[in-house]
Amino acid sequence: MRATTVSTQPIAGQKPGTSGLRKTTPEFMAPHFLENFVQSIWTGIGGLAGKTLILGGDGRYFNDRAAQVVLRMAAASGAARVIVGRDGLLSTPAASHLIRSRGADGGVILSASHNPGGPDGDFGVKFNIANGGPAPEAVTSAIFSASRSITEYAIVESQDVDLSVLGESRLGDMVVEVVDPVADYAALMERLFDFDAIAGLFASGFTLRFDAMHAVTGPYAAAILQDRLGAAPGSVVNATPLPDFGGGHPDPNPIWAHELMAAMSGPDAPDFGAASDGDGDRNMIVGRNCYVAPSDSLAVLAANATLIPACRGGLAGVARSMPTSQAVDRVAEALGIACHETPTGWKYFGSLLDAGLVTLCGEESAGTGSDHLREKDGLWAVLFWLNILARRRVPVARVMADHWQRYGRTYYSRHDYEALNADLANALMDDLRARLPDLPGTDAAGLIVRGADEFAYEDPVDGSRAEAQGLRIWFENGARAVFRLSGTGTVGATLRVYLERHDAQTLDYETQFALAPVIAAAEALAGIASRTGRTAPDVVT
Ligand code: G6P
Ligand code: ZN
Repeated sequence: MRATTVSTQPIAGQKPGTSGLRKTTPEFMAPHFLENFVQSIWTGIGGLAGKTLILGGDGRYFNDRAAQVVLRMAAASGAARVIVGRDGLLSTPAASHLIRSRGADGGVILSASHNPGGPDGDFGVKFNIANGGPAPEAVTSAIFSASRSITEYAIVESQDVDLSVLGESRLGDMVVEVVDPVADYAALMERLFDFDAIAGLFASGFTLRFDAMHAVTGPYAAAILQDRLGAAPGSVVNATPLPDFGGGHPDPNPIWAHELMAAMSGPDAPDFGAASDGDGDRNMIVGRNCYVAPSDSLAVLAANATLIPACRGGLAGVARSMPTSQAVDRVAEALGIACHETPTGWKYFGSLLDAGLVTLCGEESAGTGSDHLREKDGLWAVLFWLNILARRRVPVARVMADHWQRYGRTYYSRHDYEALNADLANALMDDLRARLPDLPGTDAAGLIVRGADEFAYEDPVDGSRAEAQGLRIWFENGARAVFRLSGTGTVGATLRVYLERHDAQTLDYETQFALAPVIAAAEALAGIASRTGRTAPDVVT
């Protein structure tokens, strides 16, 4: 088998963002684009000779073609073995687990996460390192700089590898091992949770609706929730991964998972609803007539952690991304454990988990996870909730009410302004940043600013620093507004405004109503409407 060297030139825009490189599908399919980036990964990690990689993706359009390219390029660069999910499928958490359980040197995940797929959708490539987690800054910047000086890439000429059949084959000197994408992951879940208790819950008539949103978690959820745990057949809906996710937007929030939200309201709704995203790392939890905000979910999991076998001995600590609400901080305080505050992006949790400083972590962007692997994990969060409910035997709404009764309620919402002109969005942030020092003591639509800064983070384990991670403004009533530009969009800029307010007395306000003063203050400070012409956010979560 011949390895060919193809001459190429740097292609602009190959800088990995919050979670790998994400572009429109046509951009990724343009000549040399994928190949340049894959070769830059190999260079950025110091070559591939003799290494073992995990490979899989969320099944979106171009996943199958891209997987073959990655295999041919891995063979050309001397990889010893690539372990790939059948049909090129692996959820992000399953890939993270396989990297760890097989002692691989890293993994390539083909996904644009919750972004729509298809010829007009998005595509993405993420590289995870040997601990199973997203490549940290040092690695992504090495990849980026390789992409800026690339002159050639190596690829073998061969037929497609048949990825539909389990077992080993060879591509040149490299072994390609096709594995069942679900088996190892399901076995891990069985070790972490009390499957007997959850099966007992279903046996007692408890009903579930899990919406896989036509994305990768369908096979995982069907195998674990229905086949192993006994949820009624048909509990997992939209369970077949489709290249365009059925034309949907596989992001598990009340806007994009509105079908599930509708199914969960009313007296005949199932007891429990959940959804996951394109690549299976996000989760949404809904009880009957009760949506659980991701930040609250993290706090509830922390408060109830000892009910699951994996955390029976308690938590070492918890971590949340800075914009995530401070609900979990209150639980950590009550438990007497540390709560770490990191920048947005799962990669920042990796060193804390590796060092054993935290057991649980989560983000407002519907991600929750633990030290069982190094990614957030959608189905794991669902099983965690089911395990809690199996032990407590109360409705989700009651779990929430009890939690707020004890800790108070942290009203929280995120307002997104999508596809803004990038210059305009940057100018808005620059102007607000420049005014931060003068804000304390001033009045913003009736709220007095107590403090303001730009979040920077120093990793307590390896000392690495991340600057410019969002503008934070606190008010005298304890409320907080955070402004940040998204690092995962593919069109223009997305401004995210994160709003929160803690209330120990009134626990049943409608969220947007409870936050109205903070929303008004944020608008007064940033002038979003006047600067962008947008009078309302595109997405409210
Ligand atoms: C991905 C990352 C998360 C991050 C989220 C939002 O899902 O894995 O860690 O919180 O994107 O990122 P963004 O930069 O768009 O706010
Ligand atoms: Zn995802």
